[in-house]
Amino acid sequence: MTYQFAAELAGRTIVITGGGRSIGREMATAAAAAKMKVAILEVNQETLDRTVTELKQQGGDVTGYVVDLQVESQIIDVFAQVEKDFGKIEVLVNNAAFHDSAELLDSSLEMWNKTFAINTAAPFLCIRAVLPGMIARKSGAIINIGTVNAKMMIGSDSYTASKAALHALTRTVAVRYGKHNIRCNTVVPGTIATEVWQERIHRNPAVFEQLKSWYPLGRVGKPSDITAAVLYLASDQAPWMTGTEFLVDGGLLAGLAPMYPVVEGSD
Ligand SMILES: NC(=O)c1ccc[n+]([C@@H]2O[C@H](COP(=O)([O-])OP(=O)(O)OC[C@H]3O[C@@H](n4cnc5c(N)ncnc54)[C@H](O)[C@@H]3O)[C@@H](O)[C@H]2O)c1
Repeated sequence: MTYQFAAELAGRTIVITGGGRSIGREMATAAAAAKMKVAILEVNQETLDRTVTELKQQGGDVTGYVVDLQVESQIIDVFAQVEKDFGKIEVLVNNAAFHDSAELLDSSLEMWNKTFAINTAAPFLCIRAVLPGMIARKSGAIINIGTVNAKMMIGSDSYTASKAALHALTRTVAVRYGKHNIRCNTVVPGTIATEVWQERIHRNPAVFEQLKSWYPLGRVGKPSDITAAVLYLASDQAPWMTGTEFLVDGGLLAGLAPMYPVVEGSD
């Protein structure tokens, strides 16, 4: 897929967390195709190597960094290394996430803390790492990948709470650092068919088919749906967009699609 907003991003440096697979990988692919300098931060060495090798073969300027975003010292070190390698970081996408699908009574404090470490604390630490450079250059775009779960109960307690905190962090960063021309936005995806669903597909192969009925546009999302929004928010085409929750959800949050025919008596 060709992403229209990407051309003007050529030459800029983008850091994508969790870029080894799924949505992060699609973003890295699009950014590399747009001639951006791409740094992928990923805990999984295997998927990271595969993605970096493939994108380099396609001519991309892509470097992979193995990092566990649960560990503060690793985050500090990796951002220092990226700045050394690339000179500056102009776009940060906090995409990596952990999802515990156990319900509240079956979950544990350990899983809760892991979820918050990856989904909330890591974006905070990554943002803190890139801000000094962005403030000095009076320019920067930060995009946090949130979720529709943060807006209404759709499943998973710790994931929902951790992402709602991330949505709030977007606002505090946007308001506090707007005076330095730093924009911070949340992209809010609905269901996206990615590898994180594998385990649930195994339990219920019809999961996407069943979820489709909730989506006014009649399908679940694709990684490219999210990538298009991220590149737009990163670009100069969105110069006055900051602090937003940018919904990319096929209309899910606009209303309860299976409900209105029942209410109207037309089902
Ligand atoms: N897939 C969906 O239905 C969906 C819906 C709404 C929001 N989102 C959000 O979109 C983003 C991407 O989702 P996805 O479906 O591509 O997920 P995914 O699990 O397929 O990919 C996430 C990536 O993050 C990496 N990662 C996880 N923990 C890490 C750590 N500690 N350190 C470094 N990297 C780590 C994983 O290895 C993986 O490569 C996430 O923020 C997710 O919450 C996804």
